[in-house]
Amino acid sequence: MAIVSSCTTSTLKDAATSLRSGNLVAFPTETVYGLGADATNKDAVAHLYQAKGRPSDHPLIVHISSIANLDKWAREFPEYAIKLARTFWPGPMTLILPRTHLAKDFITGNQNSVGIRVPSHPLASALLKEFEGQGGLGVVAPSANRFGNVSPTTANAVVEELSDYLSPTDLILDGGPCQVGVESTIINCTQDFPEILRPGAITATMISDLIGLQVNQIATGSNKSSIKAPGLLQSHYAPKARVFLSTTPDLGDGFIALSDIPTPPGAIRLASPKDNNEYAQLLYQALRLSDTKQISNVIIIPPTGDDIAIAICDRLEKCAYKG
Ligand code: TXA
Ligand code: MG
Repeated sequence: MAIVSSCTTSTLKDAATSLRSGNLVAFPTETVYGLGADATNKDAVAHLYQAKGRPSDHPLIVHISSIANLDKWAREFPEYAIKLARTFWPGPMTLILPRTHLAKDFITGNQNSVGIRVPSHPLASALLKEFEGQGGLGVVAPSANRFGNVSPTTANAVVEELSDYLSPTDLILDGGPCQVGVESTIINCTQDFPEILRPGAITATMISDLIGLQVNQIATGSNKSSIKAPGLLQSHYAPKARVFLSTTPDLGDGFIALSDIPTPPGAIRLASPKDNNEYAQLLYQALRLSDTKQISNVIIIPPTGDDIAIAICDRLEKCAYKG
């Protein structure tokens, strides 16, 4: 596996060619780093599942460069889905839609729907454009971490997660730290009303303000939806340290909270974000830092609000120690 630290037009062209040849390419998006494979190449996708250690019935998101390519992968989309796509793409949102014949069982985990996203990160966008220019149709990209682990928000974190599992011909593109820091909002658009399967930077309020429809939100850890999403598992996004929410740290415990909350005596401060957006940006790196520092317990004071705080609290509940 090679790491490309300064991406140019020529290195992106090579990365797209490499994807077309069946290799894996990890790349930055505005949310988290993804591990990409040609969405039409069964062998490449099999390698991707193996590298992630992910069960093969968990579906993948297809990344495309623009809404113009949507009807290759999805069909019969409701009016509200088109409105969402036109407004929030490119950006941190994934739509689950009825699939076309192109979206094979080996990417959808045998479901009749497919997840689609148009990322806004300039490197992701340029890579997808180049890939499509070379005849590619879409790139599946789960978060570039081993199954159940914290998603990577830097190229270094991808190396930590996957260097033992990638082939010599696979690539990691370094585009610096991710701006959003938590995974995209996933919206199930296979019904009359949209349903949020995973909260993210595009919030329920933003969605209902736009489309004037009620938006259902699947509760954290619930199995109510018929749709399979690993992000809905109760334990996910977890570091090695035990995470406790809103408790008082003991000597040597890690501590994460907004900057206006002082560090309790004896605790090791892992992040001091100034607001909720920065909280999302820094959270996964702070969790990784707890592992680097070999801290056993991390105390986290969750943020409040109806913005990206909802996505942060969702991830925190999932990574919290269940005893
Ligand atoms: O921000 C993101 O979405 C990142 C970046 C790389 O784009 N990707 C990401 O992928 O988080 P992944 O595979 O780690 O999480 C995708 C989630 C999974 O929980 C998966 O089950 C769900 O999307 N998903 C994908 N296709 C689906 C489908 N057809 N029905 C229901 N859930 C689906
Ligand atoms: Mg993931």
